[in-house]
Amino acid sequence: MRIELSFTPHQADEAALRDKTVVAIDVLRASTTIVTALYNGAREIIPVTTVESAVNLSAKLAGDIVLLGGERGGRMIQGFSLGNSPAEYTPEKVKGKSIVFSSTNGSQVLVNGRYAREMVVCGFVNMAMGVNFLRERPRDFTLACAGTNGAFSLEDSVCAGMVIYSLTRDDSLELALSDGALAAQTLYKSHGKNVLKLLRSTEHGRHLQEIGFEDDLKLCASVDSIPALPQLDGNVIRLKRDAERKDLSPAAASS
Ligand code: MLT
Repeated sequence: MRIELSFTPHQADEAALRDKTVVAIDVLRASTTIVTALYNGAREIIPVTTVESAVNLSAKLAGDIVLLGGERGGRMIQGFSLGNSPAEYTPEKVKGKSIVFSSTNGSQVLVNGRYAREMVVCGFVNMAMGVNFLRERPRDFTLACAGTNGAFSLEDSVCAGMVIYSLTRDDSLELALSDGALAAQTLYKSHGKNVLKLLRSTEHGRHLQEIGFEDDLKLCASVDSIPALPQLDGNVIRLKRDAERKDLSPAAASS
C-alpha cells in the first residue's frame, strides 16, 4: 500500500488524482465544515472553485433547498448565506439542503479530485472514519492537502501525518511511504500531541483568530468528534452511508 502525499492543490491537479484513491484534507476549515454540514443533515455539498461559478450554479439549481456557502480571506462572501465556520452549519440551517460551496483552497482540492477513483474528506474531527476507510481497502492512495494560498500548511500536513501514523499501528498493512508521507508522519510526531495548540500557532490559524474565528479552531481541533465520512460522488459530496466507525486513531487509543 503506497502512500503519496501532496502538500498543495498544484502538486495534485486533476490529472494527478485521476483514478486514484484520494483523501482530501483542509483542516482549517473546509474539511471540518463539510463533515459538520453533512453530519447535521445537509443533503449534499457541491464544491466549486470560483464565486462566479457558485452564483451561476445556485441560480440554475434555484429553489429554497439550495444555499451558497464559503469564504474568501476567511470571511463570508457577499450574497452568500453561509460562511466557512463549521458552527454556522447547524441542523436548523442545513437539514435537507444542497450547499454550493466555494472556499479559497479546499474547494480546489475537491474539484481536482472529480475524476479520482474515489475521494473522501478528512480532518481531525473524523480521523477514525478516514483511517478506517483506508484500512478496509488496502490499496495505494494519495493524501491531498489543501495548503494555504498555494503554499504548504502545517495543520494539513500534521493531520495527514496522523492518518499515516494511525495506519502504521495496523500490523496487517504493508505500507510504503513516499518522502512526502514520511515528512508528514514526522511532523505529526513532533507537532501532533496538542492539536489545538498547533492550530493556534499556524499561519492560517493565527489569521482566523485575528478575524474573530478563535472558536472555530476548537471545533477543528476536536479529534474524532464527528462520526461521518463525506465522499465525492460525481460532482457532489455526500455522506458515505456504510462508513462504520472503528477507533484506530491515536486519540481513540489514548482515551
Ligand atoms: C480554504 O479552503 O481556504 C479554507 O477552508 C479557508 C478558511 O479557513 O475559511
